[in-house]
Amino acid sequence: MLELDGVTVRFGDVVAVREVSLTVAEGELLMLLGGSGSGKTTTLETINRLVEPTEGTVRLRGEDVRALVPHELRRRIGYCFQGTGLFAHLTVAENVGITPRLLGWPPERVAARVAELLELVELPAELAARLPDQLSGGQAQRVGVARALAAEPELVLFDEPFGALDPITRESLQASFTRVRRETGLTGVFVTHDVIEALTLGDRVAVLRDGALVALGTAAALRESDDPYVRKLLDAPRRALGALA
Ligand SMILES: Nc1ncnc2c1ncn2[C@@H]1O[C@H](COP(=O)(O)OP(=O)(O)OP(=O)(O)O)[C@@H](O)[C@H]1O
Ligand SMILES: [Mg+2]
Repeated sequence: MLELDGVTVRFGDVVAVREVSLTVAEGELLMLLGGSGSGKTTTLETINRLVEPTEGTVRLRGEDVRALVPHELRRRIGYCFQGTGLFAHLTVAENVGITPRLLGWPPERVAARVAELLELVELPAELAARLPDQLSGGQAQRVGVARALAAEPELVLFDEPFGALDPITRESLQASFTRVRRETGLTGVFVTHDVIEALTLGDRVAVLRDGALVALGTAAALRESDDPYVRKLLDAPRRALGALA
């Protein structure tokens, strides 16, 4: 359903992404794991053309995304920005409904979709009229997820949606997310720097280091990896727990 084929992105002298090739199957959630600056956001943004690859090709259902016009891409690919990216001057309902509105859905259909999505992400309906700065961090992230799903996209990109949250709130959002995924059957790419989140939330994990893909597989397969970086990464939570004991 999605295919990155030898994608490289250069910003001047910086090589942000190095020859990344991967595929995402229908209904699959691929986790993109890596440290800060490893190229996660840049890789993600080549998919919806916020970034153009210097080399390589991105295909959505076999079609080169360069051949798709922006409004078509917006309809087909939902995007949940790093740090929510909610529009500060728009209410929750307006934020969630923005893509359907831009696509020309009639107002009553937009309103019904917004109500349905707030319920899906477990936000009380009375939050609809609030502005983003009147929300908690966890509520704002739920709005970000709802907005990404609004136009019933074929593919959804999530950039560290739960990255800035306390552990309890994060756990509750992860549980909601898993339920949303089950109910919608979404196909997605989910960026995280959290090893446990990467291993538990999705179907497969792609590990990025310094812009390059160093491993790609299921959580079980990664545990068998003999790549030194992957081993170190997977050992980190164990080391942290060991330090407590
Ligand atoms: N527009 C840009 N111009 C120049 N360099 C950039 C640009 N965007 C990203 N970079 C560089 O590319 C590299 C990868 O950045 P990217 O934002 O993809 O990392 P990331 O893995 O998402 O990091 P984080 O976890 O901190 O969000 C970094 O070295 C960054 O400084
Ligand atoms: Mg990033």
